[in-house]
Amino acid sequence: MQDKVIVISGGASGIGAEVSGRLAREGARVVIADLNAVAADVHAASIVAAGGRAVAVACDITNPELCERVAQAAVDQFGTIDGVVNCAGISKPHDSISLPPADWARMVDVQLNGAFYFAQACTKRMMDAGGAIVFITSTNAEAAFPRRAAYCAAKAGVAMLTKVLAIEWAEKGIRVNAVGPAYVATEMTQRNIAAGNVNEGQITARIPLGRLAQPADVADAVSFLLSDRASFITGHSLYVDGGWLAYGYF
Ligand SMILES: NC(=O)c1ccc[n+]([C@@H]2O[C@H](COP(=O)([O-])OP(=O)(O)OC[C@H]3O[C@@H](n4cnc5c(N)ncnc54)[C@H](O)[C@@H]3O)[C@@H](O)[C@H]2O)c1
Repeated sequence: MQDKVIVISGGASGIGAEVSGRLAREGARVVIADLNAVAADVHAASIVAAGGRAVAVACDITNPELCERVAQAAVDQFGTIDGVVNCAGISKPHDSISLPPADWARMVDVQLNGAFYFAQACTKRMMDAGGAIVFITSTNAEAAFPRRAAYCAAKAGVAMLTKVLAIEWAEKGIRVNAVGPAYVATEMTQRNIAAGNVNEGQITARIPLGRLAQPADVADAVSFLLSDRASFITGHSLYVDGGWLAYGYF
């Protein structure tokens, strides 16, 4: 990752914070784009204080113009873009029968539309040199959970988007992959546990490796897929799930 410029949406918290910190420790110059501008500033400052290189840019990825601004800020600050990690996301389980259209629309906007706008804006600025993109999807791209219709549909959409962009942008030397975690020990999961949407004991019992994923487990996979060690891997979804999707017993 030495000197690579990596732009990370949702980089201020949870998986994105772990990924941006990890890549900075590996020598990357990271651009942290997040809806939460204060948290993004704080996280970028902590990376710089630890000797890394990071800048924060406020961004709502559902707004294509703001995505363009982030990508341009990355080029203005660091000269180019070598990689993109799309971590921004929300989780709001709700019965499908009474799901308000606005909630459906916001979920699809953040998880699917925003993923596309963010990748498109950054890719426009790395066309000559090539690069790598990693979308954070979920085991929910493959496995259906109740009360998560919009989330599951959007994540499945991103898994297909991964394949389409991979074959379309391969000729530009750009690889596109996805990392799909099962439940990760982040604030998003803590909020779901606190709201009664998730029972931690049931979840860990359902995971063959017997624990939640840690953000570092996800960051390991992201770092690998961004790196030259994955130079012939594209259009792939790598599930970091402790065996969740493999499990078919009862
Ligand atoms: N936590 C899990 O168990 C889990 C499991 C599978 C997949 N995921 C996915 O991983 C990604 C990160 O999740 P997390 O657990 O780190 O969540 P998190 O809530 O800790 O962090 C998400 C970050 O995204 C930012 N964000 C939200 N909406 C945004 C927007 N419109 N534009 C820009 N930034 C925005 C938030 O401010 C926050 O900093 C999400 O896409 C989520 O769906 C999480």
